[in-house]
Amino acid sequence: MTKHNIDFKKARQFLKNPPLGCFSEYSTAYAITNENLRFVTELSDLSSARVLTAAGSGDHPIFYALAGAAHIDTFDISFCAKTIMDIKTTAISAFKSFWYFGLVHELYDEKHVCKLARILQIKNDLPDDTREFIEKTNGCRLFAKGCFPFQYKSYLPTIEEYKIIQERIRGPFNFVWTDICKLRDNLEPDSKYDVINISNIFHYRKDAKTTAKIMNGLEYHLAPGGQIISYNSCPRVPNREDWKIIQYKTLEKDKVFVLQKIR
Ligand SMILES: C[S@@+](CC[C@H](N)C(=O)[O-])C[C@H]1O[C@@H](n2cnc3c(N)ncnc32)[C@H](O)[C@@H]1O
Repeated sequence: MTKHNIDFKKARQFLKNPPLGCFSEYSTAYAITNENLRFVTELSDLSSARVLTAAGSGDHPIFYALAGAAHIDTFDISFCAKTIMDIKTTAISAFKSFWYFGLVHELYDEKHVCKLARILQIKNDLPDDTREFIEKTNGCRLFAKGCFPFQYKSYLPTIEEYKIIQERIRGPFNFVWTDICKLRDNLEPDSKYDVINISNIFHYRKDAKTTAKIMNGLEYHLAPGGQIISYNSCPRVPNREDWKIIQYKTLEKDKVFVLQKIR
């Protein structure tokens, strides 16, 4: 496992007073996805697929595992995304579904994550950096974006899905802590993926130069015929002639784009 260089003082300072709408190395993570991940994972043929996905709330890799992906790696700009992902994968191994669902509800907006009874039960099994992070940021809200707990139901796995997830997830996912602009430099140089899911990241990336840089980096790590999945509530996909864009409408205000390189 990669050793991450966490600046705890900086993390605490940031999390005590997080600026609105900003994603950065310690920005608050989503406690639960607000995307239709059952729909998204159906867009790709996942049999023997290698997937790279934004970690987000941890639900992206979890739903890719549920859908049968053979190998899943994750990346995110925020260490809080790794934290929620590690908490979920550890809890999945330890807890029955109702206890897991309870934990996901409790984590929302919680300032003392490391003191929760359900966390104390799994704390020793968490990856070391994640355990240290929740201890040293005690008093800060780590997971507060996205859905409110009363909206959780359709975004949580069902009990049947949870059983499959438990069979398929046996440990933490690999995590690359990086801004998407530097993803290419931070992945294993020869790694190739059939699916790269960049979630809602283009939503926040507007200028053509940055978008082109991101696409070039992603293209380098795409296997032949591979897809980039971009979920945007306010679509800003690159307008480039060398990428084929198939647009899908999903939820009322959301769209999912599947992009494929025309070779
Ligand atoms: C924009 S958010 C959307 C979350 C999502 N709707 C969900 O269901 O979890 C997706 C994730 O991308 C990460 N992110 C945002 N900007 C990023 C960037 N420039 N590079 C890498 N990750 C980024 C955020 O930290 C967040 O975890």
